[in-house]
Amino acid sequence: MSLHSSNHNSGGPWALVTGSTAGIGRAFCDHFAASAYNLFLLSRTEADLKQLGQELTDKWGIKTRYLACDLAQPELLTLVDAATTDLDISFLVSNAGSPSYHGRFFERTAQDFEESLRVNTLVQAQLIRHFGERMKARGKGAIIQVSSITGHVTMPFMAEYSSCKAFQLSLGEALYYEFKDYGIDFLVLSPGATKSRRINFGMEASEVVAAAFKALGRQPSVIPGWRSCWSAFKNRHLRSRRRAIDKMGQFQRGQLQARELQKID
Ligand SMILES: NC(=O)c1ccc[n+]([C@@H]2O[C@H](COP(=O)([O-])OP(=O)(O)OC[C@H]3O[C@@H](n4cnc5c(N)ncnc54)[C@H](OP(=O)(O)O)[C@@H]3O)[C@@H](O)[C@H]2O)c1
Repeated sequence: MSLHSSNHNSGGPWALVTGSTAGIGRAFCDHFAASAYNLFLLSRTEADLKQLGQELTDKWGIKTRYLACDLAQPELLTLVDAATTDLDISFLVSNAGSPSYHGRFFERTAQDFEESLRVNTLVQAQLIRHFGERMKARGKGAIIQVSSITGHVTMPFMAEYSSCKAFQLSLGEALYYEFKDYGIDFLVLSPGATKSRRINFGMEASEVVAAAFKALGRQPSVIPGWRSCWSAFKNRHLRSRRRAIDKMGQFQRGQLQARELQKID
């Protein structure tokens, strides 16, 4: 764990983005910096955080502070609380999570499985609760939970990831309603394939972030891009539950078998 702060004098509000240094989280940071928010950056690799903080400070004149920390770390909340206690964090983007595991349920070790479930459900809820309390005390704030289209559509062979994303969606949509009582806007962002560190196809991360800001304060959740919207609509409303799951299962099985064959070659 490592904490660092820049010395600029921007008096703007603060946003905290988890998973700030790549993909969707990085695009959120660019958006906040361009909107004169100071940024609290959190991910695991200190060198990347340091470089990003410097880049954003140089380009936009904002303040940055970072914490190099794994979301799986048991003392996460204590560390984040200590590092942010003097900051007025008015925006939380809970973005980082365990990567999507594509494979058979029984192939995961018990430890992999427990850690991934904890990081993608309990830790997400704890961060929301922690910063939500602080926003509640001030009577204003905003939270975006980054889920996935797989939270809307049950995915065999991605059962662990897809069910965690469904948890994020359901929790977040409920909080969208509850948190209005405290002046807090809540949005669940459910992207489909998005260019990131892990994949080089799909929507641009900046487009995904633009869709989130368009929807924030207006609706409980958003699926960016018409292709992903259509896929979720078709599988949730036009197909029977059984047919939707069978279709997804066949598709995922095909992908998995192709990968397994590549490994044998
Ligand atoms: N890309 C997609 O197609 C897609 C689609 C649907 C949903 N999503 C969701 O979008 C979110 C971001 O995904 P992405 O694809 O943009 O990610 P990404 O490009 O792989 O970047 C992940 C970011 O999170 C940090 N990170 C990863 N694990 C962490 C951990 N355990 N603790 C703290 N920081 C961690 C990484 O930095 P370090 O490695 O240095 O920690 C990096 O900054 C995830 O919740 C993902 O499920 C992505």
